[in-house]
Amino acid sequence: MLKGPYLQDLAPTSITVMWHLDRAAPARIVVEGPGGERAIDVAAARIGEVTVDRLVPSSRYRYRVEAGGQRWTGEFATAPEIGVDVPFSFIVMGDTRNGFDAHRRVVERMAQEVPDFVLGTGDMVDDGYRQDQWQQFFDVESQVLRDNVYYPAVGNHDRQGRGRTADSYRAFFSVPDNGGDTERYYAFSYAAARFLVLDSNEYSFALTDQTAWLERELIAARQDPAVRHVFVVMHHPPFSISLHGGTRDLRERWTPLFENYQVSAVFSGHDHVYERAEHNGLRYFVSGGGGAPLYPRRPRPNPVDLEAVKKFERAYHFLRVTVTGNRVEVTAIRTDGTVIETTAWTEGTPPPAPPPPPAPHDPAIAATGANAAAMTPAEPPADHPPEPGAGSLVWIGLGCVGLMLAAAVTVVRTLRR
Ligand SMILES: [Fe+2]
Repeated sequence: MLKGPYLQDLAPTSITVMWHLDRAAPARIVVEGPGGERAIDVAAARIGEVTVDRLVPSSRYRYRVEAGGQRWTGEFATAPEIGVDVPFSFIVMGDTRNGFDAHRRVVERMAQEVPDFVLGTGDMVDDGYRQDQWQQFFDVESQVLRDNVYYPAVGNHDRQGRGRTADSYRAFFSVPDNGGDTERYYAFSYAAARFLVLDSNEYSFALTDQTAWLERELIAARQDPAVRHVFVVMHHPPFSISLHGGTRDLRERWTPLFENYQVSAVFSGHDHVYERAEHNGLRYFVSGGGGAPLYPRRPRPNPVDLEAVKKFERAYHFLRVTVTGNRVEVTAIRTDGTVIETTAWTEGTPPPAPPPPPAPHDPAIAATGANAAAMTPAEPPADHPPEPGAGSLVWIGLGCVGLMLAAAVTVVRTLRR
C-alpha cells in the first residue's frame, strides 16, 4: 500500500474510499456500521477507488481494505442530510509542497482536532509531475486522510508539464464531477452549507465556462432555502500583502460575484502565511502555512491589498472553521496549539466598521470636530431629491390658482366669439 486507504467525496449516504498499491491487485472493502457489515469486491488495479453507497446519514462507520493478503483499517462519519441545520466543523490548510518537517508538525497538531472534513487550499506538492513528492504528501497526511475526507483545490504547483495538465491530481483524487473541467473545480454540500472549490490558475479562470458555472452555482445556492452559507475555496488569494500579493484578475472576475451572492468566506493559499482580509463586506482568509517555506510581508503592498488585509502572521498553521446555525467562527491555530486569532460573525452581518477616531479632549474642538456632524442636519444625498416642504406647497397652490384663472379667461373669450 503506497497511499491510503484514504477518503473522498463525503455525502449523507455515500463515501468514496481510495488506495494506491505498488502493483495491481484485486481488493475487498468491508464497511461496518448501522445495518451490520458489508463487503465490496474491487477488480485488480493499482489506484483503487470504490464508492460505498446506501449508508445511513450522520452515522459512524469502520472500514477496512484487504489486498495482497494484508488489511488496513480506518473510520468515517457520513454527512448529515443536506439542508439539516446541525453544527459542524472543518479544517482548512494548504501549501505543504516540499516542507516535509513543517508539514508533519502541522498535521500532528491537526490530528488533535475532530473535524467533519478537511479542505486543501492547493500546492500539495512542489511539482505535480514528481511522483516522489505526491508520495511524501500522502505519507505525511496518512492518518488524517484515512479517517477524514479531504477536498483538494488545485494549486499552480500541483499541475504538471508544459500543458499544465493535472493528471496526477486527477488520478489521486475523486471529487464530485459536477464542474465543467473534470475535477478541477467542483461543488459539494454539507448540512446547510454549499462549498465551491475553484481552479484559480490562470489557464482556467480565464475560461468563461468556469465563471459561468460559478455564477450558476451561486444563483442556485441563493435560491435554495436550505443553504445558509456558501464557502469558496481556491488557491490564489484576491487580497494579500505577502510575497505574491493579491490577484487582480480574480478581483475583477470573481470577487464581484462573491459580493453579489453574499458568499460567507473565501479560503485561499499561495502565499505561505496567515492573512484575514475584508473587502466590501466579505471575508477572505489566506491559509498557506501548511509546510512550505514561509513568506515575508511585502515591503510595498498594493494599496488595494493593504486596505483589505486586517491581520497578517508569518506562521505554520491551519484553520478550524465551526458553523453553528447562522454563526461562523474561524480560528487560526499554530503548530504549537496557540491561537493566532479567532474571527466570528453571524451570517447577514457585515464586518464591523473600523473604530472611530479618538474623541478630542477639548470640548470646543469636539463641537467643531467629528462629533459636530451629529449636531448638524445632514445634507440629503445627491441621488435623493429633497422632500417638498411647506414653502413648496404654497407655490404649488398659487400655480394651480393661476392655471384655473387662465382657463376661465379662455372659456369667456370663446363664448364671446
Ligand atoms: Fe501557489
